[in-house]
Amino acid sequence: MCRKISIAIDGPAGAGKTTIARRVSHILGLKYIDTGAMYRAVAWKMLKAGIPLSDEDSIIDMVRNTEIDFAEGDGSKIFVDGKDISREIRTPEVTRLSSPVSAIPGVRRLLVARQRELAGCGGVVMEGRDIGSVVLPDAQIKIFLTASANERAMRRYKEMKAAGMDVNLDSLRHDIEERDHRDSTRADSPLVKASGAVEVNTDNLSIEEVVEQILNISSERMSAECSTG
Ligand code: DC
Repeated sequence: MCRKISIAIDGPAGAGKTTIARRVSHILGLKYIDTGAMYRAVAWKMLKAGIPLSDEDSIIDMVRNTEIDFAEGDGSKIFVDGKDISREIRTPEVTRLSSPVSAIPGVRRLLVARQRELAGCGGVVMEGRDIGSVVLPDAQIKIFLTASANERAMRRYKEMKAAGMDVNLDSLRHDIEERDHRDSTRADSPLVKASGAVEVNTDNLSIEEVVEQILNISSERMSAECSTG
């Protein structure tokens, strides 16, 4: 039997997950969900409410009482308690705080439950750090997207410059390396290549080439599943 397709795209910050996941979802007509935006939303609301990182109970309580939604048909637009905060969650301050916040097990438990709810019974491209390993372990297609820290810092630098932000390449690289370390060494659901995931290094590939690789992997997996199903 052919289940609705679920594609999990995991990888470190700046590997190209967002651009690639959005394009793949668009081409295949699937829903797109950016789970990193959800951890950022929690960090944003903490900053607004003045809750310190050390007060885990209040953070978890806050998450329990927060409604996180994505715009219908545009999974990159995120709403917290009905307010569109898609731009606010991209500041360096929110970016920095989102990593330690995502290491709090109680926060992860609540957000993972919400992510599974949003994924429904499939028909989704979901990106994050633990999608193939924890959130959607039964996803038919799992991609682990990587790139060198230099390349990732340069991409973020160009993106932020283009958005009119004032940025420094060295401090971006430093932040990326620090986040990589924290995201892959935390005790709860660290960034890992999920079992069954295909690793795609995007260093010397164009966006189109990466998208094509993922579409090829998807169609191979799906035809194999349908012919054995
Ligand atoms: O992908 P991003 O940079 O927007 O993610 C923000 C932070 O959230 C990042 O430090 C790692 C964390 N994250 C996570 O722990 N699990 C996910 N599924 C997605 C993001």
